[in-house]
Amino acid sequence: MNEPIFLLGFMGCGKSSTGKKLAKILHLNFIDLDREIEMHSQKTIAEIFEEKGEEYFRTLESNILRNQGGRGSSIIAVGGGTPCFNENMDYMNSVGKTVYLKSSSGRLLGRLRQGKKKRPLIANLNDSELSSIIKNLLSKRSEFYQKADIIFSIEDFSVEDLSLLLSSDIKSVK
Ligand code: S3P
Repeated sequence: MNEPIFLLGFMGCGKSSTGKKLAKILHLNFIDLDREIEMHSQKTIAEIFEEKGEEYFRTLESNILRNQGGRGSSIIAVGGGTPCFNENMDYMNSVGKTVYLKSSSGRLLGRLRQGKKKRPLIANLNDSELSSIIKNLLSKRSEFYQKADIIFSIEDFSVEDLSLLLSSDIKSVK
């Protein structure tokens, strides 16, 4: 495996925790795109959104993605919106393997209730607003997520299952 593996999916699906475990199993380096963006700009994601706006964030995100994507084999967890802007999904498919960590909106709601504070798109929403934004955004973003080489139901299988899938020679699983 000499290409990056990109983990993508909606906020709260578990890209970072899955990525860390997967990197350990496969003996690969783990990169979290949001943390790279924060290190580069010396600001949190929330501060970037607040001070410079989403458009600025999306440009920075796409630039740093291309920077990291060119570095050979590693596991790269990207942000929930990354695949949906600036042809990033096509870019990731062209340089590496893409894995969509698919999760139901019910599971996402449970997880995002706890983890919404650091996510500027949902930080100030109440439960019912959160539930409807998950459904709306997920249905818009699915079009991009579905372009992944592998669509992996994170609710039904383990990280070990995913590592076996990636170690095999299978090119695409939908
Ligand atoms: C975003 C998801 C976040 C982060 C930013 C925007 C999105 O990453 O990149 O807050 O547009 O869905 P996570 O998916 O890791 O929360």
